[in-house]
Amino acid sequence: MYQVEAKNRLQSSIFHPLLREWHSGNLQITPVNLMYPIFILNSPDEKNEIISMPGVYRYGINHLEEMLKPLVAKGLKSVLLFGVIDDDLKNTFGTNADSNDNPIIKALPLLRKWFPDLVIACDVCLCPYTNHGHCGILYDDGTINNKESINRIAEIAVSYAKAGAHIVAPSDMMDGRIGAIKKALDNVNLTNKVSVLSYAVKFASGFYGPFRDASKSSPKFGDRKCYQLPPGSNGLASRAAARDVAEGADMLMVKPGLAYLDILRKTKDTYPDYPLFIYQVSGEYAMIYHAAKNNAINLKDVLLEILTSMKRAGADCIITYFTPYILDMLIPKSKY
Ligand code: PBG
Ligand code: ZN
Repeated sequence: MYQVEAKNRLQSSIFHPLLREWHSGNLQITPVNLMYPIFILNSPDEKNEIISMPGVYRYGINHLEEMLKPLVAKGLKSVLLFGVIDDDLKNTFGTNADSNDNPIIKALPLLRKWFPDLVIACDVCLCPYTNHGHCGILYDDGTINNKESINRIAEIAVSYAKAGAHIVAPSDMMDGRIGAIKKALDNVNLTNKVSVLSYAVKFASGFYGPFRDASKSSPKFGDRKCYQLPPGSNGLASRAAARDVAEGADMLMVKPGLAYLDILRKTKDTYPDYPLFIYQVSGEYAMIYHAAKNNAINLKDVLLEILTSMKRAGADCIITYFTPYILDMLIPKSKY
């Protein structure tokens, strides 16, 4: 019978919670590591639940202060804003991405006033505002017009920056958008006040399904495979991050999360000097929510395990719809 030698016994390291913690490295999740995505409607008094993401709502501006106040009190440090507008306000150029009617443009000064310490990031994309639902400006044949797209994306980023965003986060995946945004911010002297968080490594993913329902941003024809990365592509993932770093991105993101932790680790190892974000996207939220709801998994345990994996794989900040739930989880209770 095989006898394990004393020196090979790992269980001597994990019999007590404090020992387990020492062996886990500094993987504790704190509010600093969380960014909360929020959908903001153009009708100020409306509030509705997103069917495909139970427990997640779209909010009109008049609901924001009440919703955020308790979260900020529990330590919430940053949010990521998404605008949602009615179909009749959409057109080929996405003019309402940054018009005075845009819910983000309207919400920014209010949020800055209500929550002076909250860091506010804005998703920058065209898909919630174009009538075709694609993330750029199109030629007549339906292909991407890169030059017009990055001009427009940079214009929108500057509008959000002027309205009070601390961070602009382009999710469109158009070539050259980081350089275009940096240049446009520089032209209005905002490069010292606004950070660019690049959705640098964003894959064409089935996990975005519930989000497109949430932000009413599904493409009306075709898909996003000509601008988002193929899930199997290690090489393009590296090149996308390298390109965005070279164009001046301040921070990087890998998206989706759980299925791409290898990419996260590689990105962190290649760019240790850049804060790295990971987006636990809508489909991941729905998957965990429904599994827990049906008693297949324990929500708290599994969520903590996934968040820890993300930190272990190199994440500095996790963008997650579970943020309110996690903030409650973090309220200190003695473990020992
Ligand atoms: C828009 C955008 C998407 C997400 C963030 N910004 C959807 C997409 O690219 O199709 C996905 C977020 C999520 O699924 O939670 N460009
Ligand atoms: Zn988009």
